[in-house]
Amino acid sequence: MEVFLSSLRELEESGAAAIAAAAAPEELERVRVEYLGRKARLTQLLRGVRELPEEQRPEAGAEANRVKNRLLELLDQRASQLAAAPAAAAPGTDLTLPGRGRWRGARHPCTLVADEICDIFKELGFVRARGPEAETTWYNFTALNTPLDHPAADEQDTFYLAEDIVLRTHTSPVQTRVMEKWKPPVRIVVPGVVYRRDPFDASHAPAFEQIEGLAVDEGISFVEFKASISYFVRRFFGEDTATRFRPSFFPFTEPSAEVDVSCLLCHGEGCSACKGTGWIEIMGAGMVDPAVFDNVGYDSERYTGFAFGMGVGRIAMLRYRIPDIRLLYESDVRFLEQFERA
Ligand code: PHE
Repeated sequence: MEVFLSSLRELEESGAAAIAAAAAPEELERVRVEYLGRKARLTQLLRGVRELPEEQRPEAGAEANRVKNRLLELLDQRASQLAAAPAAAAPGTDLTLPGRGRWRGARHPCTLVADEICDIFKELGFVRARGPEAETTWYNFTALNTPLDHPAADEQDTFYLAEDIVLRTHTSPVQTRVMEKWKPPVRIVVPGVVYRRDPFDASHAPAFEQIEGLAVDEGISFVEFKASISYFVRRFFGEDTATRFRPSFFPFTEPSAEVDVSCLLCHGEGCSACKGTGWIEIMGAGMVDPAVFDNVGYDSERYTGFAFGMGVGRIAMLRYRIPDIRLLYESDVRFLEQFERA
């Protein structure tokens, strides 16, 4: 009896230790077979109870069953521990290293800014429109009151795909395309890529995004034009940003203006970002020239409106303080992915 009980206890201890040491489910299964399987020592000991003197059998049987149940319980516990735990680390693995997040991608800073600009104009009733990037010279120049031999055309014209098909040099042709299709009132914003004969340097790119705007209705005055643009500037750049309208020239607007905002860095004091002027130019704009209305069949006595066009990349540079426009177009995701979360 003593021998029986001590070998039971020995078995209990070595079984418990083997279960605790099992590092994977397969190993645990081997331990189970070894200790509790049909040929296991515990099973043999249980069978051996029969051979003990009768008065000793109840105690021996009870003790053997207790050991069996305890081992079963430990096996169960260990099995669920192993299922919950991550795979064991290889020796030398530093589990304190921070995890690596999965790369999800992010929107390009120009896309973020274009969306934000369109959303602000949406508050003023503007809807989005689109037009083709390969454009006829009629829409790109002529319909916009820009004869092909006009210096304004000469400055821009570039990348001809055919005799009278050009990669559009601005998003303004979408103004006339939309007006041909729709009667006033019209309020649209037009994001899209344009192409220029420009060098690729810190502040120019030969292909870049613009956002065009056009509002046409009865009774639109220069006051509504200024108020709308100033509203956009305050919403986009902040309440304390001032807007300045500088006289300029575009063939398709009269009068025309360049719109400046007070320098976001020095607030008008003058710094290197604004080249000491206190102002930064953000768009060309003006009241729609009646000649453009005539070209699309709008009654230029009845309708007035304003239009504007801005470079999205330049605005993104201001928003995110990006010093060189080429960074936006060099497709380095490590640079480009950081803005969505900023
Ligand atoms: N299309 C002009 C440009 O690309 C900008 C502009 C748009 C000016 C609308 C006036 C009105 O420079």
